[in-house]
Amino acid sequence: MSSLLAHRLKDGTKQAHSLAENAGFIRCFLKGAVEKTSYRQLLSDFYFVYTALEEEMVAQQHHPLLSHLYFTELHRKSSLAKDLSYYWGNAWQEVITPSDAAQRYVERIHAVAIADPILLIAHSYTRYLGDLSGGQLLKKLAQRGMNLPPGHGIAFYEFEDIQNPKAFKAKYRQALNHLSLDESAITQIVDEANLAFQLNMALFQDVEGSLIQAIGQMIFNHLTRSRRNNASQWSADLTETTGLQPD
Ligand code: HEM
Repeated sequence: MSSLLAHRLKDGTKQAHSLAENAGFIRCFLKGAVEKTSYRQLLSDFYFVYTALEEEMVAQQHHPLLSHLYFTELHRKSSLAKDLSYYWGNAWQEVITPSDAAQRYVERIHAVAIADPILLIAHSYTRYLGDLSGGQLLKKLAQRGMNLPPGHGIAFYEFEDIQNPKAFKAKYRQALNHLSLDESAITQIVDEANLAFQLNMALFQDVEGSLIQAIGQMIFNHLTRSRRNNASQWSADLTETTGLQPD
């Protein structure tokens, strides 16, 4: 029996996807303005989110439906750990904390894992298919925007055990379509995927807050440092803090 879940998810989250693509933080990213402080906060938040998701997927690996979507090659926890050590230093585990939005996201993942584990499908779909799609573009922008040395700080986007993301996505969609689900379950999974997109938007909004804070701090530093009151230093500060090139 085919559920056509892949099609339903794609159609049912179209609007949420275009809202996510247009989130302020993502738009800055697309313009090449990637600021390290907010980027490393986003990665920290992702670490908590993926840890929760992967912990629950591992626990459900023999579930009659979830077992068909159990692909360890998608797991991001250890690649995030690599990046966090690059951005925060060796003691990263002692310094990172989840934002409020990340905390809510994590709580939701654990809550559905207890109440209705098949809703984990929605969380896996939203993050992993996204990482294998737009995520590949974000990798190039992160590299360029933060001037990263080759091979550093982009492990999150690198799926070492997936040689062909397009073919893998086709396989994943096929697995979604072959799940035996009734209409009510499909509707609930699509609703949960929309919630997952909202939880991601909330993460981006929290990170946007820290980007604005970073710009505010830069302006404050600029105003209080008299030796730095010339236009060229201002431009250098702006570029250093935000990645933006003044006109
Ligand atoms: C810069 C922002 C983004 C760009 C440029 C982008 C781009 C894309 C593209 C081109 C696809 C189609 C890939 C294909 O059919 O093979 C796609 C799919 C997808 N994206 Fe994004 N995306 C972005 C942000 C996001 C975000 C923030 C999320 C979720 C948090 C997300 C989740 C997804 C999902 C789940 C799919 C799979 C859709 C499907 O085929 O069912 N994307 N994205």
